[in-house]
Amino acid sequence: MQTTKYLLATYKETPADAEIISHQLMLRAGMIRKNAAGIYAWLPLGLRVLKKVENIVREELNRTGALEILMPAIQPSELWQESGRWEQYGPELLRIIDRHKNEFCFGPTHEEVITALMRNELQSYKQLPITLYQIQTKFRDEIRPRFGVMRSREFLMKDAYSFHMTKASLQETYEIMYKTYQNIFSRLGLKFRAVEAPTGTIGGSFSHEFHVLAESGEDEILYSDASDYAVNVEIATAKAGDPSPDGKGTLHTARGIEVGQVFQLGDKYSKAMGFTVLDENGKAVVPQMGCYGIGVSRTVAATIEQNHDAKGIIWPKAIAPFDVAIVPINMHKSERVREAAYKLYHELTAQGLDVLLDDRNERVGVMFADMELIGIPKQIVVGERGLDAGTVEYKDRKTGAVEHIGLDSISLTL
Ligand SMILES: Nc1ncnc2c1ncn2[C@@H]1O[C@H](COP(=O)(O)OP(=O)(O)OP(=O)(O)O)[C@@H](O)[C@H]1O
Ligand SMILES: [Mg+2]
Repeated sequence: MQTTKYLLATYKETPADAEIISHQLMLRAGMIRKNAAGIYAWLPLGLRVLKKVENIVREELNRTGALEILMPAIQPSELWQESGRWEQYGPELLRIIDRHKNEFCFGPTHEEVITALMRNELQSYKQLPITLYQIQTKFRDEIRPRFGVMRSREFLMKDAYSFHMTKASLQETYEIMYKTYQNIFSRLGLKFRAVEAPTGTIGGSFSHEFHVLAESGEDEILYSDASDYAVNVEIATAKAGDPSPDGKGTLHTARGIEVGQVFQLGDKYSKAMGFTVLDENGKAVVPQMGCYGIGVSRTVAATIEQNHDAKGIIWPKAIAPFDVAIVPINMHKSERVREAAYKLYHELTAQGLDVLLDDRNERVGVMFADMELIGIPKQIVVGERGLDAGTVEYKDRKTGAVEHIGLDSISLTL
């Protein structure tokens, strides 16, 4: 991609209405734009990152054998009446009335829809266990949308649902999902903790949240300094300084951003909605269910909370919008520089890398500042002086370290 053909929508000023750094940087880098309170459009640069996160989530879910589906965003009220949540859910549920005066809601989550779908598709124990998931837009009419896509009203979620003949089978899939979440957040390069958690309006008996550790986090967690034990303070019986309940180490507090949650729902929805399958003896059994969510759009913001400096975003390699930026110095005056820059651009692109060539007729300082703001992990600076020596500058966004590398060997470095 060349910047002159791209929508590089960066700006210098800190936006007045953005309180936390990720929100400020997502606006300044030209990733998102506000449409209404808690409702955002994703510009090309932001969408690249969102899609990369989405694809990592999809790859890891597929690896477990979970099957991707796509359910409707708009859900009929009848299903929510069956589960009892039409009354229970309250004003966060955006309710819609169609021209025939039928009531619907814009889905904040999909337990009702998946249960109604599967009670028609699954008849026999032979079809279970099964896990289905989707990556889809959700709507929650949050009382206080804030922090950009971190707590928005419309957002992208991966939600998975599993169905089982026994509690033991549910436990097995729950553990697989738990490990899958660890893999996903590790691949994203995040510092996170899995935390024992309250079940909220989703319900069920047992749950863990996954928290990205960051000062701006809305949740407080207690974690052991000597084990993996951690708990959301909302359900903790211990406090900071107490010995960890698992007998290992002492509890400390940290702030966390909830990026995912896994639940053992038991038979809450299957029972309420009259869903049974036949077991080996032809007896009707109410299936056990699990559900597993990841806030895909929130994860993008949470990643920035952990990866930035005074100059802007520092993307982890796995989800950077571009792998490398090429910044030619005075390309519009030097044919040599232009030639070398384009040659490199074509070579690296052919190598399968996402390359951004800054071909604007701008001051080099402006180009550096933009590439740093949007957080491209590596920069290659092509200039007359380097070309005299047969080299380019290879700069690391995170450390700022500069290496002079031979033009011929740069493609091997990346
Ligand atoms: N308003 C929101 N904006 C962006 N992402 C959200 C929002 N609400 C939930 N999510 C994401 O969706 C995931 C699964 O949804 P879940 O029902 O567990 O959310 P939640 O526990 O209600 O979230 P929170 O406690 O932050 O309101 C969450 O872990 C979170 O990452
Ligand atoms: Mg949650």
